[in-house]
Amino acid sequence: MKAVAVSVFHNLGRAVRAALLLLPLILAVLWCGRLTAGDIVRPGELWPDESGRHINAHGGGILAYGGRYYWYGEDKDARTNAALVGVSCYSSRNLKKWRRLSVALSVDTTDAASPIARGCIIERPKVIYCAGTGKFVMWFHLELRDKGYRAAMAGVAVADRPEGPFRFLRASRVNAGRLPSGYTEEDVQMLDSLRYTMKLKWWTPEWRRGVEAGVYMRRDMDGGQMARDMQLFVDSDGKAYHIYASEENLTIQIAELTDDYTAHTGRYVRVAPGGQNEATVLFRHGGYYWMITSGCTGWAPNAARLYRARSIMGPWEGNLYNPCCEGNDRRPVEKTFLGQGTYALPYGKGIIFMADEWRPNHPSDGRYLWLPISFDRDGGPQIKWRDSWSLKKLKAGKYNDYPE
Ligand code: DGJ
Repeated sequence: MKAVAVSVFHNLGRAVRAALLLLPLILAVLWCGRLTAGDIVRPGELWPDESGRHINAHGGGILAYGGRYYWYGEDKDARTNAALVGVSCYSSRNLKKWRRLSVALSVDTTDAASPIARGCIIERPKVIYCAGTGKFVMWFHLELRDKGYRAAMAGVAVADRPEGPFRFLRASRVNAGRLPSGYTEEDVQMLDSLRYTMKLKWWTPEWRRGVEAGVYMRRDMDGGQMARDMQLFVDSDGKAYHIYASEENLTIQIAELTDDYTAHTGRYVRVAPGGQNEATVLFRHGGYYWMITSGCTGWAPNAARLYRARSIMGPWEGNLYNPCCEGNDRRPVEKTFLGQGTYALPYGKGIIFMADEWRPNHPSDGRYLWLPISFDRDGGPQIKWRDSWSLKKLKAGKYNDYPE
């Protein structure tokens, strides 16, 4: 009898010991379940993919194609912002559960002289589908290996399938030899006479006059315009545009793409000259093109700005106001809730503002801040912080008090 009792106790002890050992695993599984279940988005929390790993698609954008969503982004390393892998691609049917499909664009591990050699910087990749050619076209901001942020180039790659593999076509500055729309040869002479302003102290009124007139654009005319933080936008007529921080990050430029989306037509405009904007996010609503941007403070967050236009090629009005209108101490509006915009995704009757919360000391741990965009009674966009929100409600237009 005593022996049976000892054996039961012993076995019980083993079961308890095993349960204790497994507890962290059980808790992790439950935690993952909480983060991936249902239609609830929790901005700033870990976002595991179907395999349980935090999604690694930073500075990303989303393509809706064939009843699925494809999320492309920077596949970041734990220690460096340099591209060691390339551009990742995840797919989802509901925007909540994501499966990692592939490395859509791989860095070149064999040729150290390649513009996309392992160790280069690839940022803010975006993919659009070209109905005319049936190809998927990716553009990204490229910086050459070991050259810091000096190259300021745009890279382009194409694929036959949304998940890739994307074939790298080329990287270059933008629209070499071209003047922005509306500029004349007389303007070029005027800019040449203002060349000296580039040597002045930044932010002095005279320096600013030169910047606004376009002295940096003129400086880069031969070699092409600088192109850093970038966005793509396909308009309702099928025309596509490349939007990028140019002219030493002082001025946004919007450049029209060719019909196959793989090159620039030469037509471009300057937006908010001297406004020092980056991280552009574009969407249409209420007869306007809206552009949310950030200031330029590296990886540190700052206040978002808002611009609008009746035509994508301008004229653009703004800075109008900070569209982030309700936050809290942990998620302040004057710091874009600690994020920086990367994309706007129309979803049913709603639009999602996608932003990155960068973690420069642990880049792959960067978080995703997805939030509903609502509109005020005058049709102006507003973004409120929410610890959690429902994709279903957003789709049904529930986060927008003043629908179109
Ligand atoms: C802010 C940009 O938005 C990012 O994409 C990245 O280029 C960092 N600056 C680098 O400091």
